[in-house]
Amino acid sequence: MTQTYISDIAEKAGQEVELRGWLYHLRSSGKLKFLQVRDGTGIIQCVMSRKDVSEATWQAGEALTQETSIIVQGKVNKDDRAPGGYEIWLSDLQIIGTSVDYPITPKEHGDAFLLDHRHLWIRSRRQHAILRVRHHVIRAIRDFFDERGFTMLDAPIFTPSAAEGTTTLFETDYFGDKAYLSQSGQLYMEPGCAAFGKVYCFGPTFRAEKSKTRKHLTEFWMVEPEVAFMDLEGCIELGEDFICFIVGRALERCKPQLEVLERDLSKLESIKKPFPRIRYDEAVKLLNDKGIDFEYGEDFGAPHEEALVEGYDRPVVVHRFPADIKAFYMKTDPENPKLSLSADFIAPEGYGEIIGGSQREDDLKVIEQKIRSHNLPREAFEWYLDVRRYGTFPHSGFGLGLERTVSWICGIRHIRETIPFPRLMHRLKP
Ligand code: 4AD
Ligand code: MG
Repeated sequence: MTQTYISDIAEKAGQEVELRGWLYHLRSSGKLKFLQVRDGTGIIQCVMSRKDVSEATWQAGEALTQETSIIVQGKVNKDDRAPGGYEIWLSDLQIIGTSVDYPITPKEHGDAFLLDHRHLWIRSRRQHAILRVRHHVIRAIRDFFDERGFTMLDAPIFTPSAAEGTTTLFETDYFGDKAYLSQSGQLYMEPGCAAFGKVYCFGPTFRAEKSKTRKHLTEFWMVEPEVAFMDLEGCIELGEDFICFIVGRALERCKPQLEVLERDLSKLESIKKPFPRIRYDEAVKLLNDKGIDFEYGEDFGAPHEEALVEGYDRPVVVHRFPADIKAFYMKTDPENPKLSLSADFIAPEGYGEIIGGSQREDDLKVIEQKIRSHNLPREAFEWYLDVRRYGTFPHSGFGLGLERTVSWICGIRHIRETIPFPRLMHRLKP
């Protein structure tokens, strides 16, 4: 018999099917066994009745343990009381691989234990739901830019220089030279947009984050669009459209997963543009007015971000940060040389900054000066300066962190559950 996937079971109502998967959970009650079987596409209840199966099959059922791999055959029965609306009445069961003392049981486990067993933990219902949402968000990201005529341009992972400051660089030996794992693909998207107009890269980025917060990974995925002749205003609007698109897609395609995660959908349904915007200096005042100790020139920490979005049902855009606390490549605000043409998007409900973006400095003299004042090695940036030497042009872009976005959409407090195999300051395994 050919294999049927649980996700396609509705098409097979009333028919005999064969499922291939693993035993998720077993409950026995006299002459009946209720097997929760999962195959990666879903979980379904299979009912085995002693009178319907051979003695050998019944005995196989007796021997079943959690996560044993099995092939089962039976008839699909539509039943509104069954979880998922369908169940299978088994006629046959074959054990493929036994599973002895599976470490993750339905009881509570500690975080460290689960992370040590991440390779198995991803089989669990909640983790499976989160990673399916991640999958759909990745598709939405690609579709958004592809449908708008962007060219996908991969940025390298080995890089000769820092994009986001030298404090979080991972250094590695490169045939006797130093190379750094990329913190951002942006510096490569800038020449890219001079060649293709609208580009994006989407890949892993690395930061030696010494902060052990629930929003920081040392390896995370970032999508970075860059657009020629787009100013900061255009950049903010692109970010708004992008976030609305991703959230809309999640609502359209991830309802079952969001249900497993018990996500309050009304929080996602309210994500509409325009997003509220506040200037950095207004943000400082707003925090102080709330009685929060925060000085002009500081960067926002988690409590500040939470206070800034309080009372808003959608992301808040904070713009025009002091140039001193932002990266060297950001364009100086022509109206105030102390400010940068920058914009961060802070997600509601305390999920923190999901987008960091800016208009880029396009004046050769000014960017040379910024490289000096940030103590960056000029030689490593010569190629980057060529973007300003040969037909300079206004341009802007941003980076959206995939895992923070997924944690917000899923309503997961800790970002480590939003990536298949998280890399954290104290975790390199499995
Ligand atoms: O604000 P960041 O540092 O911006 C850049 O890297 C720019 N070069 C992007 C650009 O303009 N092309 O990072 C962008 C986003 C943040 O808003 C956050 O969502 C995410 O990347 N991010 C992290 N996510 C997980 N763990 C970390 N350690 C992160 N650091 C940044
Ligand atoms: Mg940032």
